[in-house]
Amino acid sequence: MLTKLPGLIDVHVHLREPGATHKEDWDSGTAAALAGGFTTVLAMPNTNAAIVDGQTLGLSLGAAELKARCDYAQYLGGSSTNPKTALELSNKVAGLKLYLDQTYGDLKLDDMADWLPHFANWPKRAPLAVHAEGKTLAAAILLAAIYDRPVHLCHVSRREEILLIRTAKEKGLRVTCEVCPHHLFLSEDDILAIGRGRSEVRPRLATKADQDALWANLGVVDCFATDHAPHTLAEKDGNNPLPGFPGLETILPLLLTAVDEGRLTLTDVVTRLHDNPQRIFALPKQPTNYIEVDLDSSYEIHAKDQYTRCGWTPFEGWKVKGRVVRVVLRGKTAYEDGRVLAPPGCGKNIRNL
Ligand code: NCD
Ligand code: ZN
Ligand code: ZN
Ligand code: ZN
Repeated sequence: MLTKLPGLIDVHVHLREPGATHKEDWDSGTAAALAGGFTTVLAMPNTNAAIVDGQTLGLSLGAAELKARCDYAQYLGGSSTNPKTALELSNKVAGLKLYLDQTYGDLKLDDMADWLPHFANWPKRAPLAVHAEGKTLAAAILLAAIYDRPVHLCHVSRREEILLIRTAKEKGLRVTCEVCPHHLFLSEDDILAIGRGRSEVRPRLATKADQDALWANLGVVDCFATDHAPHTLAEKDGNNPLPGFPGLETILPLLLTAVDEGRLTLTDVVTRLHDNPQRIFALPKQPTNYIEVDLDSSYEIHAKDQYTRCGWTPFEGWKVKGRVVRVVLRGKTAYEDGRVLAPPGCGKNIRNL
């Protein structure tokens, strides 16, 4: 028996084009998305060059138009010099992304004064997403309050963070948040098994108590997002391991396994991988995007079966229950029984629909 679900939406992926197509590109990354049950992905701007103006946005969207196999939109990155440019491009992008803490890429805004014009100028109807950890997260929530605007908090990973977000929501502040599968299913206790270099990710794998707090506060979590951040095995296992995990092809089977174990419901999953992403990011309703999953199919996760170019997964060998059988994109079968059928270029920019 197959179960029909809406086409999933991942609001946080890194597709690495332009600049690092040896890790991933619009073709391989959107193939991985379809294989994972996603019909829409929102691509982060920390590429090389970073997406910060019309010219660099054109580089990414030009590649996407030729190569994307599922629907998409591209985030713009906030820089110290581009608040005005960002405003002009606000209708064309997934949202504005601000990097308030150090992570992969060179978009970090070091001076808090550079945050203010972005919070002030970026339209309130347009999504504003931030990478902010720990006390920086508290600062981001303060700015949401000062500017009375919605802010989406990326990859929440710690107990102190989810408790703060709970309080902020109770006060009526317009904050939403996402949690990633690696922070739900892994903790620092798994670092030795995965390997030190491979375990590098931002935010870092946290304590078991942090992990438990995410599960205990699922009601505060608006979205699940992969933060699909592919780096090759050579990059992960080298002297300077780059932070980031692939996630597009493993998040749904991991969550469906948790559903099977009674840790959450199928509705909890659909709410966080479709309904809330669609609403928070003001995405079009696409009833002809849907997927079919076999909730009874058990299998093992292996990197060799994945479409991502990065060649590894932190969940290698994990036993899961719940398989994506078919993905339908705008009425056409785009993925079926392990094969990606949608050709490069058939994905559409959902900000141009
Ligand atoms: C991301 C990347 O590699 O682009 N890495 C990561 O560890 N999450 C950057 C980010 O999302 O902060
Ligand atoms: Zn981040
Ligand atoms: Zn990310
Ligand atoms: Zn294997």
